[in-house]
Amino acid sequence: TATDDLASLFRQSSRAVAFTGAGISTESGIPDFRSPGGLWTQNKPIPFQAFIQSREARAEAWRRKFTMDDSYRGAAPARGHLALAAMIRAGHLSGIITQNIDNLHQDAGTPDPQLIEIHGNGTYATCLACGRRHELSWVRQRFEASGGEPPDCEACGGPVKSATISFGQAMPEAKMRQAAAWSTDCDLFLAIGSSLVVYPAAGLPLAARESGAHLVIINREETPLDEAAHLIIRADIGEVLEGLTRRLGIGGLS
Ligand code: OAD
Ligand code: ZN
Repeated sequence: TATDDLASLFRQSSRAVAFTGAGISTESGIPDFRSPGGLWTQNKPIPFQAFIQSREARAEAWRRKFTMDDSYRGAAPARGHLALAAMIRAGHLSGIITQNIDNLHQDAGTPDPQLIEIHGNGTYATCLACGRRHELSWVRQRFEASGGEPPDCEACGGPVKSATISFGQAMPEAKMRQAAAWSTDCDLFLAIGSSLVVYPAAGLPLAARESGAHLVIINREETPLDEAAHLIIRADIGEVLEGLTRRLGIGGLS
């Protein structure tokens, strides 16, 4: 089976890297962006420029953020997150590059040095002017007490934004450089649960492939990078990664 092929690629590999997208978290009950019913099919994303320029856009962004946080409160890591964390502990995986902002790789026990979040993290907020961190509980309290006004930074009065990267916003440069280095240095690159249409993120699997790594794509739908892959597994991520850990003799998936 394809999972057997994947297990044998892992046995030959000495430096494997996983690259994850929203598809690894759907089993945790968090919808992805582009599947039917996905987040971007319900609401268009608010571009960074709009967020900066308009209080109304900031208010709308926070409204949506709190609504989503309420519906996915208590989301727990799924089999995919747990499998990857177990593979890191067992020495089968060097690291995880994630586009996700849901903190579920950390919740699954992935050690910080083995995780790169290239689209930021949605569990806290920062000031766009001075960088000061603000907790979501503080933001929410301000937001609600003011009848839905977007809160400004306590230190400098700048706009406070969820610590995620929006369309039009600069990528975290050092993290992106590190992710590029992991991609070109690995010998096996596993793209998991991403439609692979958002750049520069989707350039990482290509960079890995061009540097000689085996490229594997696990995704239930086709992606534009399927032609570049050595192995494509169009199946459920939880099933595949659970099966993979079993074949690699890794336990403790709970
Ligand atoms: P997408 O929603 O674009 O893609 C998720 C993919 O996962 C889809 O192709 C699904 O078919 C697949 N999928 C979902 N559940 C699955 C499952 N259980 N088993 C197998 N496949 C499954 O999400 P991303 O590629 O992560 O960026 O999106 C990339 C970026 O676009 C995000 O990081 C976000 C978004 O806009 C920013 O916000 C900057
Ligand atoms: Zn500030």
